[in-house]
Amino acid sequence: MKEELRSLFASAFSREPPERVHFAPGRVNLIGEHVDYNQGPVLPAPLGLGTWAAARAGKAFAVRLASWNEGQRGTFDLAAADLGAGQAAADAGWMKYPLALVRALRDQGKEIGGFDLAVAGNLMVGAGLSSSASLLVACARALNDLFHLGLSPVDLAQVAFRAETEYAGVSCGIMDQMAAAVAKPGHALLLDCRDRSFRHVALPSEQASLVIIDSGTRRSLADSRYNERVAECQAALATLCRRRADVVSLRDVLPGDLERSAAHMEPAALRRARHVVEEIERVFAFVAALEQGDLAACGRLLRESHRSLRDLYEVSTPALDFLAERASALPGTFGARLTGAGFGGCVLALTRKGAEQALVATLGAEYAERCGQEARFHVLGGGG
Ligand code: GLA
Repeated sequence: MKEELRSLFASAFSREPPERVHFAPGRVNLIGEHVDYNQGPVLPAPLGLGTWAAARAGKAFAVRLASWNEGQRGTFDLAAADLGAGQAAADAGWMKYPLALVRALRDQGKEIGGFDLAVAGNLMVGAGLSSSASLLVACARALNDLFHLGLSPVDLAQVAFRAETEYAGVSCGIMDQMAAAVAKPGHALLLDCRDRSFRHVALPSEQASLVIIDSGTRRSLADSRYNERVAECQAALATLCRRRADVVSLRDVLPGDLERSAAHMEPAALRRARHVVEEIERVFAFVAALEQGDLAACGRLLRESHRSLRDLYEVSTPALDFLAERASALPGTFGARLTGAGFGGCVLALTRKGAEQALVATLGAEYAERCGQEARFHVLGGGG
């Protein structure tokens, strides 16, 4: 992708590309779904796929943008206070992300001059693999380098998070930006979204593989259903807070507390909260099992997580259910579940080393026959 990016830069801006290009990966979340915005722990792992960005200083007050993946290009005026906000941002398509980033950097008092920025990526967009965070963090790295902003990897995640939540219209948690900015290849990132502390957990690459199965069905994260789940969690939290003064987030709630408040909650809010509270426990159990090499237990937890996302959080789809259930039933698979926000996108399967190709062949054929669609597969660590 680096070569494609360099030639795009040269042709879009009629000038030499910069020496250095910057990369930020997409991620797959192993477990801990829809808990980041409830201050819980999550366990994403970085992919070899992601976004590359190349930037050079440009004309004063002019931002020129080009993407290898998207046709749209644009020139924006840095002197305009709202820099492509409102309707203009919606019309700007992918470009709303780098523009949001400039606004978030300026909010932090960072001086940004005119620049030319080109990006190229190989992540499936809208598949739940965090293409927007990868784009934002790659651009943040490029601007950090170009303007000597002195931002640490965690600072880059925070500014990308601010760009996404304040200027791109998604009330997401910080998992994706942190994964794109600080995760290490070959490791999962155990991130505590309450205090943003993290540690790297080695993946069992000798014994098992992570296979990402893209259902080919898509959703847009800015779509209202994600934000609706966030609001439902807030409603559940408000009820719990009225009954217990020490509760700040759903992270502070145990399954027993929920049962005691159940009669006072809307049924949907109760289901959402139950998922969150139990999913938090599953993350800790999963990490313990991973560190003990108990992959069968990891598989059970993945299956439980999927059922909970399907029945309690209600973010699955028939295609994701089919892929997760069939993958889990294969002899070489420990377990599988939908990964990312849901409503379409990908399933993650934990398979025994050596069983990946059998899974690809069986599931690929069954999915095409049953759902009339092609599934795409990506084996983590399998070359890209
Ligand atoms: C999206 C969001 C994340 C997280 C997941 C669900 O990827 O960007 O912050 O909430 O959904 O776990």
